[in-house]
Amino acid sequence: MLSVVLPLFFLVGVRAQTYSATYLPSNAPNHSEQGQAGTNQCGTGSNQTSQCQNAYINSVDDFCVFAPPEPGPASVIGNTERFEVSWCIKPGYGTRLIPDGSVTGAHFVQTPDYVQVTGVGDFTKINIPKGDAGGELDPHGADGNGNPIGGLVFSSAFTGQIQQVHEWTNFMSDSQFCFRACKDGPKAPGLCEHIYDVMGCEWNMPGNYGQGFAHCVGDSGEPMGVYGASTFHQGDGRTPPPHPAPATSSCTTVATIGNSVSVSGAAIPTNTTSSPTAPPTTSGTSATRTSSGSSSTSSSNAASAIHLPGSGALVGLITIVAGASIF
Ligand SMILES: *[C@@H]1O[C@H](CO)[C@@H](O)[C@H](O)[C@H]1NC(C)=O
Ligand SMILES: *[C@@H]1O[C@H](CO)[C@@H](O)[C@H](O)[C@H]1NC(C)=O
Ligand SMILES: *[C@@H]1O[C@H](CO)[C@@H](O)[C@H](O)[C@H]1NC(C)=O
Repeated sequence: MLSVVLPLFFLVGVRAQTYSATYLPSNAPNHSEQGQAGTNQCGTGSNQTSQCQNAYINSVDDFCVFAPPEPGPASVIGNTERFEVSWCIKPGYGTRLIPDGSVTGAHFVQTPDYVQVTGVGDFTKINIPKGDAGGELDPHGADGNGNPIGGLVFSSAFTGQIQQVHEWTNFMSDSQFCFRACKDGPKAPGLCEHIYDVMGCEWNMPGNYGQGFAHCVGDSGEPMGVYGASTFHQGDGRTPPPHPAPATSSCTTVATIGNSVSVSGAAIPTNTTSSPTAPPTTSGTSATRTSSGSSSTSSSNAASAIHLPGSGALVGLITIVAGASIF
């Protein structure tokens, strides 16, 4: 019996780090997995109907998340995880752009074993229905083809050169996000564990979920769910507390992140009847944000925002107006 178990264990251990393929954005196929809805051949543009499924996680102002391609109440993460598309802060990856002002907090941490960005915002602007507690995206999924199927993640944070990251995990809800991409190596499967998919960001990736933007270095922390010699599994009787957030240092704060796109990701206008949420009280954070370099384009963006339904665009417009009156 033992002689069978040991070789199997060995094979599984090796397989976890032997990836079937490694791509760069420049040589990725149209579809990296069977059943893929979008594409990995994304070009160097950006537009809000892109079906690109390549995500990048490079720095506090250069990252992407996966989110639904279409708006509407049926687009909860649980329903759309198989065909979600990439939404980025930075243009030029062939993806959709996260509208400015959607992300109100983003905290990037570079550790020896992974990079991570955690934060908050209004992700109804990238098609996540209001009230969706969300779910988890990862390169595995029920059939091993990933959620989304064929989603690829790249980073230049480890070597300065863009490379594929084979183990990653991204939680999305209507108001919170976290994305960790693990450096290829023996620790990657544990530090980018994907089996705790109902536990949310703060349990899986303890860190800073406050407002504002910062880039830090940090310690790697402990693998999700592993507490010394015992490993928790979802459904086990008692849920252990999250690991403490690993220490960070050398933090650089950034006033704002963005791309001067203020239009919603909703390619098809939604026919929403919900009343707009109250505008945020003018705070130091929003004033700082709107004082950024993107303010030169804010008037034209405001014009396009007016045509969009939904509370997100209205809040964005109010933010721009508030910024303009301050400066
Ligand atoms: C690539 O994939 C997309 C999305 O599935 C599809 O619409 C397109 O036709 C494909 N392009 C080629 C050249 O096969
Ligand atoms: C949007 O971006 C995708 C991916 O780069 C590209 O294939 C598509 O042609 C673009 N669409 C428009 C309308 O520019
Ligand atoms: C929007 O909703 C209203 C009320 O339900 C309906 O009368 C109208 O036709 C809808 N418009 C579109 C474009 O679907």
